[in-house]
Amino acid sequence: MHVLAIANQKGGVGKTTLAALVAFYFAQKRKCRVLAVDLDSQANLSTTLREFRVEVPASALFGDAPLSLPAVRPAIALLHGAPALADLELGLAAAHRRRVRTFVAQLASLREAFDVCVIDSPPTAGLRMVGALAAADFVVVPIELERYSRDGVKAMLQMVFGVRAEYNPRVKLLGLLPSRVMSGQPRQRAALADVFAHYGDYLVPGQVAISTRSAIPRALEEGIPVWQLPRAVAHEASAEVLRALEALAAAMQPTTEETAS
Ligand SMILES: Nc1ncnc2c1ncn2[C@@H]1O[C@H](COP(=O)(O)OP(=O)(O)O)[C@@H](O)[C@H]1O
Ligand SMILES: [Mg+2]
Repeated sequence: MHVLAIANQKGGVGKTTLAALVAFYFAQKRKCRVLAVDLDSQANLSTTLREFRVEVPASALFGDAPLSLPAVRPAIALLHGAPALADLELGLAAAHRRRVRTFVAQLASLREAFDVCVIDSPPTAGLRMVGALAAADFVVVPIELERYSRDGVKAMLQMVFGVRAEYNPRVKLLGLLPSRVMSGQPRQRAALADVFAHYGDYLVPGQVAISTRSAIPRALEEGIPVWQLPRAVAHEASAEVLRALEALAAAMQPTTEETAS
């Protein structure tokens, strides 16, 4: 199982949208068995993927009881979010470390049952984000150009490097993914070109981005990915989204070290 964490401590940058698209992409286009984990107490991913919900909440991954997933599962198995997830952030540092390690172990117990796991994380630099990064093989950081600030992104990258040092040397940063780009606006197009030119090393390889397009949330509201909408209304949006997802999938290759072992 390849675990992909989607993280950014900022809200509204497109994390949940990307998480849903990633889940649909691997299930439909790659025929993978997909586990989707919603760590946000707002549970927006759980609304989008409602059709795939199994009766195990994401919070169970932080508990000690063995997980029991149904034997017959939909193409995507959603471990849903709930308001109580926010309570995990309470407590002392030692309890946090224990919860992070429990989360990593519980997710590892599902390694054989799924091909891909996508984790949507909350917009807070807390225990759940640390848990997502600690359990992840790969991490992608959606960013918005308008609010693109070196400081915010730097803090996020520092978090990845911190978790790599403390919990998970394996985690690979796939990169930043410009999202909700208003490609109709010259200023945003220029900003995107600038980011491609100057931050290439930190980006998802392939100069991919996801523009703001109404078809994307409209489809997700219906519980389907944008490429399932009629071609006439969603052709461009689908092409761009699929290009970004293919770039992500291509970058999700194990390091040579792992291949050798
Ligand atoms: N590419 C996009 N085009 C149009 N709307 C988008 C796009 N990505 C996200 N949105 C919308 O922007 C809002 C925030 O996106 P969301 O994925 O929930 O961000 P986050 O999970 O980072 O808070 C949502 O209302 C979502 O529907
Ligand atoms: Mg979200």
